[in-house]
This record gives sequence, structure tokens and C-alpha cells, in this order.
Amino acid sequence: MLLGALFAACARGEAPEAAQVDFGTVMAEIGRRFELLGRASLAGRYELADYQLGELEEAFTEALPHASPPKEGHPEVLPPLVSGFVQTAIPDLRAAIAAHDRATIDAAFARTATLCNRCHAESGHGFIEVPTAAGRSVPSTEPVAP
Ligand code: HEC
Repeated sequence: MLLGALFAACARGEAPEAAQVDFGTVMAEIGRRFELLGRASLAGRYELADYQLGELEEAFTEALPHASPPKEGHPEVLPPLVSGFVQTAIPDLRAAIAAHDRATIDAAFARTATLCNRCHAESGHGFIEVPTAAGRSVPSTEPVAP
């Protein structure tokens, strides 16, 4: 009975053309995972941090290349910046988390956030600010400095 319902649901889910996900929707997930990666690292929950990194990597390598780019700003800059991020930030974070060392992770977190922010600035979304220190909300909702 339950199995039958599950099969029916699966069959319905197999639409011939999967709906294209929005770049911004994937980014909202990336923001949440990066925030959790930072919070987990601060708490010494390295396995959880590494898990979040794996999910972050999937979002960049599997979801973003098929996502519909934003209509505003400069979407033409996105593809090379996505691959640059995957080639530099992901291995940097992976090595830092594997080291189980706070200072190493803090430095990799800051370098990664700088890359996040560089793409936001270059694509016309500089107001979406990723904090360079772990443990804060992503994106930053702190009051703007006067
Ligand atoms: C390749 C360029 C690029 C990189 C790298 C990038 N972003 Fe983004 N991000 C964007 C663009 C473009 C948008 C706006 C998307 C839109 O308007 O549809 C965005 C939006 C966001 C948003 C807002 C999502 C929402 O709609 O609520 C968050 C949060 C975010 N990014 C977090 C991050 C974090 C964290 C990183 C780094 C780990 C990162 N981004 C790296 C391009 C990038």
C-alpha cells in the first residue's frame, strides 16, 4: 500500500523535462551550507563540516551549471567564476577541515568568503555580502557600517 503510493509518486515525478532551477535558489542553499560549515567547524564538528562541504561542492558542480542565470547584473561572468571557485575554494576548504585546526579552517573560510564576494561584486550582486569569519549568518544582515 505504502510502496504503491511511493511508486506512483516517483512515476509522477519523472516529467520528460525537469524544470530548470534558479541560480538564486541554488545560491540560497549554498549560503546555508557555508554558514553551517562555519558553525560546525567552530564547534569542532569536523565530520558535519565536511558533509556540508560535500553538499556545497555538489551545488556548485551539479546544480549551478544547469541553473537559469539571473536576468539582472552581468550573468556572462558566471561560468568561468563557478569553475574557478570549484578548482580553488573546494580543495582549500577540504584540506583545512581535514587538518582539524581552527586557525587553518578560519583562514580557508576567509579566503573562500572573499571569492564568494568577488563573484557577487563582478556579477552585480555586491550587496550580498558573505562574512569572512565563521559563525555569522550568511549572507550578512549586520547593520552597514556608518
Ligand atoms: C560564480 C559566481 C558566484 C560565486 C562563486 C558565489 N556566488 Fe552567491 N550569488 C551569485 C549570484 C549571481 C547571485 C544572485 C542570484 C540571483 O539573483 O538569482 C548570488 C546570490 C547569493 C545569495 C543570495 C541567495 C538568495 O536569493 O537568497 C547567497 C546567500 C549567496 N549567493 C551565497 C554565496 C556563498 C556563501 C558563496 C561562496 C561559498 C557564493 N555565494 C559564491 C554568484 C556567485
